[in-house]
Amino acid sequence: MINFHILTLFPDLFEGFLKESILARAQKQGLVKINVCNLRDWGVGKHHQVDDSPYGGGTGMVLMMEPVDLAVKEITKDWIPKKNRKILLTPQGKIYNQKKAGDLAKYEDILLICGRYEGFDERIRGLVDEELSIGNYILNGGEVAAMAVVESVFRLVPRVLTKEEATRIETFHDGLLEYPQYTRPEDYYGKMVPSVLLSGNHAKIEKWRNEQAIKKTIEKRPDLLDGRED
Ligand code: ADE
Repeated sequence: MINFHILTLFPDLFEGFLKESILARAQKQGLVKINVCNLRDWGVGKHHQVDDSPYGGGTGMVLMMEPVDLAVKEITKDWIPKKNRKILLTPQGKIYNQKKAGDLAKYEDILLICGRYEGFDERIRGLVDEELSIGNYILNGGEVAAMAVVESVFRLVPRVLTKEEATRIETFHDGLLEYPQYTRPEDYYGKMVPSVLLSGNHAKIEKWRNEQAIKKTIEKRPDLLDGRED
């Protein structure tokens, strides 16, 4: 069981995402809970203000400390110490990867704060345990990054994937790329399915898949083999 809390100025962005197949199923089964929080609910004054112009001048608006601080305090008020993680999504964060997903899957509560590209008050960084980036490119905000974290973490929570879904992944060596897969037709205008897959010889198929996964990883992502992507 894992609870995600997403703090965002754009809660509607998550609507379709939360209805997606395996994530919808996991929520129905009570294995994952997702609490999308609208930062504007903690906005200041009668206009629920959440951003303001930067000290020192310059263009654009800066996300204010107060709404984020109040939101974090309220969302985390009943949390059990040590079983939770507060994360800010920002291009300044540590690059996210599969190992990090595995670490996060062990927590009970995860707060994902979606930053805005125009900027946020530097003091907001002091409210979180860590900052994460999903890659070396700039998004308009942390929402898509938060979805990437939710999707990669929840599928690692025990019982979220069916036995069949999990076995297919686990029988394969950790850290290798997937072996090539094919489905009907056997011959697509001369592009053939490898004959070993039609042989019915399971030991031979297993061996071929192993070899192909290693070959593919060496060719396409050699960095995965020596842990360089960390
Ligand atoms: N916000 C904007 N760009 C981002 C990125 N690459 N990762 C995480 N959060 C972001």
